[in-house]
Amino acid sequence: MNNTAFEAFTVEETAEGKFLRSIKKKTVQDLPEGDVLVKVSYSSLNYKDALSASGNKGVTRRYPHTPGIDAAGVVDYSDHSDFHPGDKVIVSGYDLGMNKSGGFGQFIRVPADWVVKLPDGLTLHESMIYGTAGFTAAQSVYKLMEHGVKPGSGEVLVTGATGGVGSVAVAILAKEGFDVVAASGKAEQKEFLTSLGAKRIISREQAMDESSKALLKERWNGVIDTVGGGILTTALKSTKYGGVVTCCGNVASPQLYMTVYPFILRGITLAGIDSANCNIETRKEVWQKIAGPWKLDCLDQLVTDITLAELDSHIEKMLHGDLKGRTVVNLH
Ligand SMILES: NC(=O)c1ccc[n+]([C@@H]2O[C@H](COP(=O)([O-])OP(=O)(O)OC[C@H]3O[C@@H](n4cnc5c(N)ncnc54)[C@H](OP(=O)(O)O)[C@@H]3O)[C@@H](O)[C@H]2O)c1
Repeated sequence: MNNTAFEAFTVEETAEGKFLRSIKKKTVQDLPEGDVLVKVSYSSLNYKDALSASGNKGVTRRYPHTPGIDAAGVVDYSDHSDFHPGDKVIVSGYDLGMNKSGGFGQFIRVPADWVVKLPDGLTLHESMIYGTAGFTAAQSVYKLMEHGVKPGSGEVLVTGATGGVGSVAVAILAKEGFDVVAASGKAEQKEFLTSLGAKRIISREQAMDESSKALLKERWNGVIDTVGGGILTTALKSTKYGGVVTCCGNVASPQLYMTVYPFILRGITLAGIDSANCNIETRKEVWQKIAGPWKLDCLDQLVTDITLAELDSHIEKMLHGDLKGRTVVNLH
């Protein structure tokens, strides 16, 4: 029986309904059943982890719990013929880190159909610079292009542009040759966004129309929205005839108050993005794009590396919208 001990960032609920975070010792026997035991090298911090770590029961129903919806590491043991000890793998999405012990622990045990082999062209560390947020950004670009939005035909807006999803989306779109407009609440991050490839930067206020007009001046060929609420509503009302808007997040608000006119008068498409349950074939295809044509030259600019001990403070920063780019957690 595998009794290996390891460290895991753990969230506990007190009798008073408070949520306490600390690093605990666990053993592999504490992990849920699964085909593949992975020794985690790196994880990454995503908005969902910050919610799980602060007691959001919509994300995690039961505590104590180890969050971490992303993990990249090496197979330690496998009951499944597709995986062998020593294989480098990525596990992200499904129930990892939500209701199953996640990547903020030095080991995870998961079903084989959650596991993707690390594609050639990416290191384990690089795969976590993308992580779920980067994967979602890539999925959003993929969706825009699948719906016919092409480089060179007009501006594409990215909202929440300095965030994990937003920053990777700006960089991938720029790499594909799109004219990217970045909407950000951080005026001091203009240089960062320009270095990722944004052609123009607008403030959150400029991205948000407070009038109750059903339609606004047509501005965008496509939009990758990561924040929801009034900024998403404004984007839908400002998208050009036949344009496409992807929606993946709700950091501003989950609400959408608007009329149907952008859809029935301008033929706008609102495309939902869900990375967690994305089917394994699309998942592999998107990872191949990330490791190939969409591999970014600016990965070093996007990443902040932290240890398990530094997670707590970074979770607080994320909940306040204060992080920039991607945060990779080193589990070594
Ligand atoms: N559907 C999926 O599969 C999926 C996958 C991954 C993430 N998500 C969701 O996507 C969203 C973004 O995730 P992330 O990892 O990029 O998070 P993040 O790194 O925290 O970035 C979010 C960004 O949104 C902006 N922002 C924060 N608070 C805001 C507010 N009140 N109003 C307007 N903008 C605000 C900030 O960027 P600026 O300062 O530059 O404006 C912030 O950096 C989250 O809701 C997350 O849950 C969904």
